[in-house]
Amino acid sequence: MVALIPAAPAAVKAPVGPTLPPPRLDRPAREVVRASVLGAWARTDMLFCSVDSDAAFQTQPDPLRNPLVFYLGHPAAFYVNKLVMAGLLATGGVEPALEALFERGVDPAHADDLALTAYPRTEAVWRYRDRVRAVVLGVIDRVSWDGEIGPDDPRWALLMALEHERIHFETSSVLLRQLPVEAVRRPPGWRYAAWDAPAPADAGALVAVGGGRVTLGRPAWARTFGWDNEHGRLDVEVAPFEAGRDLVTNGELLAFVRAGGYAHDALWSAEGRAWRDARGVTAPRFWVPRATGYAYRAMFDELPLPLAWPAEVTAHEAEAYARWASASRGVPGMRLPTEAEHAQLAAGAPLDEHGDVVASEAYNLCLRLGSPSPVGSFGGATSRWGCRDVRGNVWQWLADDFAPLPGFATHPYYPDFSTPYFGSDHGMMAGGSWASTGGSASRWYRLWFRRFFHQHAGFRLVRSVGA
Ligand SMILES: [Fe+2]
Repeated sequence: MVALIPAAPAAVKAPVGPTLPPPRLDRPAREVVRASVLGAWARTDMLFCSVDSDAAFQTQPDPLRNPLVFYLGHPAAFYVNKLVMAGLLATGGVEPALEALFERGVDPAHADDLALTAYPRTEAVWRYRDRVRAVVLGVIDRVSWDGEIGPDDPRWALLMALEHERIHFETSSVLLRQLPVEAVRRPPGWRYAAWDAPAPADAGALVAVGGGRVTLGRPAWARTFGWDNEHGRLDVEVAPFEAGRDLVTNGELLAFVRAGGYAHDALWSAEGRAWRDARGVTAPRFWVPRATGYAYRAMFDELPLPLAWPAEVTAHEAEAYARWASASRGVPGMRLPTEAEHAQLAAGAPLDEHGDVVASEAYNLCLRLGSPSPVGSFGGATSRWGCRDVRGNVWQWLADDFAPLPGFATHPYYPDFSTPYFGSDHGMMAGGSWASTGGSASRWYRLWFRRFFHQHAGFRLVRSVGA
């Protein structure tokens, strides 16, 4: 028997539609920061209000992550811990036991490595969130908003906690997709893209991408918050290559599944085979086997498999598909792009007035929709080479290991945001997804995960010229 949760904020109105862009560092305004914090907070509330039982909150939707209730408390505790660190809140915080319990997330290589602990009942965590929200708003109202915010400014901690909440909105949304569909209720106003639209006739074609010099790293002129790993600069000379005009679709992945691709060992890396066998993987995580084929687990509903939406897979599956596509299409050398190649294939795609993409309507980013969209359907998200969906829709797995850029330096408020994850255990992604908001939707954001981790993530294939 599951219990309803009376303490969930009853007045949460589902905030639908695109989110606000990140506050500006050069002319910060109290009202903008307040609205941004409240907007991100309300979206987290909306997400977790869709889960209506304490029993569901106390389970792990993913065996590699904490029970769901942890992610309800974690963003609030993060605000408190960082504001204390910055001297904007007195030592002792709001509720020290919860600030310790919800302090940091996990990233185990194996489920057995995860040390589970007991968590309070969900209604206590909702009450904690409400208390912390009032405290955070009190800080925003108390501090002066005169003057530009630099990394040494205590207000940096507020912006960091805001962006952190936005990151967790997205990762928590992926956890919710791993709950049984009966455990969630779609929030009023949530909008999916058309799931029965066809893919463009030329989807899957390769286009020529010219070579050139690419500069990675958040430029000094950017005037929004950036995480440590975005800073620094790397110039890369990219050779001409060919790239998929579109992201690989569910329809294309279905052909791979039907051809026995998941069972064909030679297509998989040793690491990918080990993951596939340990988890018994036979299809993408969000496909639901049914007698007549596969259904699709969207955020809050089961839908017919949207064949024109980008496939959402792990990097291991993307790499296996690439080998199969090379062999079956007779096109050698198909692979994931590097970070620099992704930047090059995206060149010329629209930017907003800040030189970024966060506020641009050209992309399926920032919750304009509550799902991926048919590939190529955001016509503006096209680069000068004709590559579509170069940002937004779903994240795009890259070939690179996660690595710092030259000039990287940690920030004292969060010294281990990136450094524990550099190296070959974590692959990179670029571009953001429909659920990426704030800085996560920025063209300078650099994301990493273990190559077997689930995210709203897909891929595009590329090949070197003459491969
Ligand atoms: Fe976190």
